[in-house]
Amino acid sequence: MRETAPVKTALLYEGKAKRVYACADEETCIVSYTDAATAYNGLKKGFIPGKGAVVNRVTNALMRYLSSEGIPTHYIRELSDTETLVRRVRMLPLEVIVRNYTSGSLAHRLGLEEGLPLTTPVLEFNYKSDALDDPLVNTCHILSFGWASEEQVQRMKALSLRVNTLLTGYLDRLGIRLVDFKLEYGVTGGGELLLADEISPDTCRFWDIKTGEKLDKDRFRRDMGGVTEAYQEVMRRFCAQAAC
Ligand code: TMP
Repeated sequence: MRETAPVKTALLYEGKAKRVYACADEETCIVSYTDAATAYNGLKKGFIPGKGAVVNRVTNALMRYLSSEGIPTHYIRELSDTETLVRRVRMLPLEVIVRNYTSGSLAHRLGLEEGLPLTTPVLEFNYKSDALDDPLVNTCHILSFGWASEEQVQRMKALSLRVNTLLTGYLDRLGIRLVDFKLEYGVTGGGELLLADEISPDTCRFWDIKTGEKLDKDRFRRDMGGVTEAYQEVMRRFCAQAAC
């Protein structure tokens, strides 16, 4: 039996590259991805044709895989190329970054060259604030300012490291090196912590395992060209594995 398409009842949130709509069922919502691209917290703006579909389908393939491995996620089902039904959560104001190689802000902050393997994954928290440029914070900040409980912090750390192990193996099979990535978590009305938001070339650093070529948003951030092609190449590899 075909499931009926849920109806959007209100715009809940408009982000830089996605919109979130409420549904008649208050425990769910619809995420709708656009082709808009931003970097440096909105200072750089552009369009990457077809990006919304790549982000939606890659995120869903990864969320399905993580769910099948026991990670609690907000994913319910894909509605179209660019829209997905998810469980409604209250997002925690934190980004969890996991790094396997030096790059980006870590390389910059510590004066390191990019691409050095880290002997153990490095986990960081950023406080989500465009005005403050998403500053790096630690557990004491999180607890002191009430952004999450001690139990939620410990659970986010454990889940994120498990996600890192799972994604590293999954992407390795697609010839992609997982350099680093960002996760976000939310809490349901019943208090359950779920992995939410997206996992895509917008929020991860993906390098081709053989050539080291960048297949992610750094091509846009750093004006490297070949942005659309890189996103399509990631999509092609996922589809070749029938994952999307
Ligand atoms: P960073 O090196 O700029 O701190 O980024 C680390 C990883 O997290 C990288 O894969 C990009 C991702 N990220 C986001 O998706 N959104 C953000 O707001 C930030 C700061 C990082």
